[in-house]
Amino acid sequence: MKKFTGINKAVFPVAGLGTRFLPATKAQPKEMLPIVDKPLIQYAVEEAYDAGIRHMVFVNGRNKRAIEDHFDTAYELETELEAAGKNDLLALVNSIKPDDMHCSYVRQSRALGLGHAVLCAQPLVGEEAFAVLLADDLMTGPDGGPSVLKQMVQVFDQTQASVLAVQEVPRDHVKRYGIVAGEASGERLIRVRQMVEKPAPEVAPSRLGVAGRYVLTPSVFDQIRQQPRGTGNEIQLTDGIARLIATEGVYAYAYQGKRYDCGSKQGFLEATVELALKHPEVGPGFQEYIKTTFC
Ligand code: UTP
Repeated sequence: MKKFTGINKAVFPVAGLGTRFLPATKAQPKEMLPIVDKPLIQYAVEEAYDAGIRHMVFVNGRNKRAIEDHFDTAYELETELEAAGKNDLLALVNSIKPDDMHCSYVRQSRALGLGHAVLCAQPLVGEEAFAVLLADDLMTGPDGGPSVLKQMVQVFDQTQASVLAVQEVPRDHVKRYGIVAGEASGERLIRVRQMVEKPAPEVAPSRLGVAGRYVLTPSVFDQIRQQPRGTGNEIQLTDGIARLIATEGVYAYAYQGKRYDCGSKQGFLEATVELALKHPEVGPGFQEYIKTTFC
């Protein structure tokens, strides 16, 4: 079997319509919605960078120019900040895209599903193993510990087969997730035998739901290309990965950390409150506000 040496590229599918966040997402991507002061997509890019990845591939749709602009130079802003001597803010703006980070963009002209979005990145990914991050799942690692993607890259180094981030979800939530089942294969690791997209609770093979972090081998592209349309008449990433189970094996990794489903209003609000409470600048004041207003 081919030995993959590290993960160098991360794919960010950001071409979805974000209908659950209308009207906020009518003219701006949901991935640019901020949690406190940073857009969702920046949290995901920082997680990939922390995992050692330097080439970020964005699968864009219409209305997504703001994402390209966010990771590009902002000449007017930077010139103004420099002239005003606001060096801290200038450094903050410059840190969004470190010099050794490379960004590429590809268009998904119709939102045909997550599998289709990932397939659009194939010309930029080539024959390498790669990461996929769904920015609307905001993931935090354990306090002081490695990010979720960093944990997964370490696991992939051992398995040399695709790795999916999973967590146990309530039984009545299984219909919102890709659900996997299999047998234990090491600490926090499961060898996947079955994978199904958004099953009804009565037929779900387990309660292990896939979160929006994947490390995939390039064979997934051929599988996605060959598969029929799946749930919701969309080209599902889950179906492509399920086909890999038979050919080269797939692992599920019960990550250490926390996931906020920021594609939903409830998850977005939970992330906002929890990250605001920990925020170095506004945290102390916000804690005081919560205490005096609600406790
Ligand atoms: P979601 O289904 O959560 O996102 O897809 P959505 O379609 O944007 O949101 P709602 O359900 O209408 O509110 C998960 C991720 O996959 C991307 C989305 O941008 C999101 O990051 N995606 C989904 C694509 O890039 N292309 C697609 O065709 C579908």
